Amino acid sequence: MVWCVVGLVGVAARVGEVEYAIREVAALAAKLSKSGVKIIPLNIGDPVKFDFKTPTYIKEALVKAVLEDQNMYGPSEGLPELRKAISERLSGFGADIVEDDIIITNGISEGIQMLTGVLVEAGDEVLVPSPSYPSYNAYIRFYGGKAVSYRTVEEDGWAPDIEHLRSRVSKRTKAVLLINPNNPTGALYDAKTVKEVVQIAAENNLILIADEIYDEIIFEGSFTPAVSLAKDVNFIGLNGFSKAHLMTGWRLGYIYLKDGESRLKEVKEGLLRLARVRLCPNTPVQKAAVAALRGSREHIQDMVKRLRERRDFSLKAIEEVELLSSTTPNGAFYLFPKINLKGTKWATDKEFVLDLLRETGVTVVHGSGFGEDYGSNHFRMVFLPPLDVLGEAFEKIKKFVKTHYRS
Ligand SMILES: Cc1ncc(COP(=O)(O)O)c(C=O)c1O
Repeated sequence: MVWCVVGLVGVAARVGEVEYAIREVAALAAKLSKSGVKIIPLNIGDPVKFDFKTPTYIKEALVKAVLEDQNMYGPSEGLPELRKAISERLSGFGADIVEDDIIITNGISEGIQMLTGVLVEAGDEVLVPSPSYPSYNAYIRFYGGKAVSYRTVEEDGWAPDIEHLRSRVSKRTKAVLLINPNNPTGALYDAKTVKEVVQIAAENNLILIADEIYDEIIFEGSFTPAVSLAKDVNFIGLNGFSKAHLMTGWRLGYIYLKDGESRLKEVKEGLLRLARVRLCPNTPVQKAAVAALRGSREHIQDMVKRLRERRDFSLKAIEEVELLSSTTPNGAFYLFPKINLKGTKWATDKEFVLDLLRETGVTVVHGSGFGEDYGSNHFRMVFLPPLDVLGEAFEKIKKFVKTHYRS
């Protein structure tokens, strides 16, 4: 008998909820590159792709761990020595987070999936900043929840609109997310703002989720760790080694809970269950992460210094491009320029970005991919490349705009 398989194999409807604009643009760039177009990638927040390299002492710690046969599965919640080093780091913020309240993940990304998987039931709402890093929205929706956006205000350096945030709380709200410094805007929130968000969470008995992956990449002003103000609030923090320690491809992050033995006991147990099904985080990379936390911080100072120069160069270049304007980001490595689309041939930021990519090879991400409501009419670019590459990119952007638009 001859079997014949026909028809398309269906997938779970929830897959349709998952979108990640950053990598979508990258797919078109990869296609163009294959056909010989020179691509200038300003779309992905990976410093290691440019001239920021993983410090030698961290690489050596990884190699040593591998050569010493630290290549086995480890504890599901992570290695005790790494959890201890993280607990010590957090105590520097005045936060009393014990090792038992820290769970190591394969990148924050895995932590986001685990956390939303544990917290979000169908119909639950989570307040997320807009514009914002798209993973949160994607996973909240994937698990049947609703990502309810709160406005961040460009004219205010992209600080949260506190009244709007307050008005978005409903009976179904479970948690509020704070990303500081923010991706895609690079906004660094002052202590007053962080306090106000903490207060809203406390008053409404919400969980405050703080993603502070860019906490060490600060240009002006000072960073306020949310946990330092989280006295009477259910608090869950996320952080990782990708950015400040230049370990993007190694995939390591962590989740920490304040008062994990009391109010967050069930959440912690849920996270540990999920940690067990995925077996464990990468063992040798955890050894390297201990070295990173205990080692020299010179590479971070050097990175911030070089990034500041690249940011200032880019801001100046943006001023010279008709249609574009930008706020000054005080942290991370992103610019989020506004595109004045009025009177142009482009109806949306996505059209602008895709045309720019096809015609010049300069790859940026449309702002609407970070939140249609408050991210539209913008694009996100990294200022990670050296000045000559940034210079070339801006020459191309300038020429592109001139070709299509006359004021
Ligand atoms: C705000 C934010 N959180 C999390 C991540 C993902 O981090 P990881 O590499 O640890 O998965 C990123 C990556 O760009 C990010 O910008």
